[in-house]
Amino acid sequence: MFQLYNGLVLILILVGVSLRKQRRKHVPIMITCFVLDMISVLYLEMNRHVIQEAFEHISQRTMQIHLFFAMGTLVGYGIAGYTGRKLLKGFAIYWVHRLNALCFLVCRTGIFVTSFLIS
Ligand code: HEM
Repeated sequence: MFQLYNGLVLILILVGVSLRKQRRKHVPIMITCFVLDMISVLYLEMNRHVIQEAFEHISQRTMQIHLFFAMGTLVGYGIAGYTGRKLLKGFAIYWVHRLNALCFLVCRTGIFVTSFLIS
């Protein structure tokens, strides 16, 4: 169930990125994805036993990789929000936003793939 939610948000992210040239669609879609991802973080925080159980039966290395991607995603959202707002204000920092998008997509896909290893 959690993977399905995770996968659907990832699909929405890809839709948002494919609409990157249409600001009026791209921006609200990406913000929605951020909110949806934060809801799953909140869910895990409120159900800490899920994290505890995962830590108990999954190798430390797998967990480290998953957490690395999770941190990368969080930082990626932060940088996307910051550089996205700059773009909206007219600063032509497309390349920073684009480079961040690439790292973000690798990490967010990494979360999805590794989530199958820890469930
Ligand atoms: C993780 C979330 C996001 C990803 C992966 C992402 C990805 C992208 C990509 C790949 C581009 C095209 C850049 C280029 O071709 O040079 C783009 C454009 C843009 N993004 Fe984002 N973005 C994200 C979030 C946001 C947010 C939150 C905002 C606003 C606050 C935003 C505002 C923009 C704007 C204004 C453009 C330029 C559109 C244009 O061509 O006029 N993005 N984004």
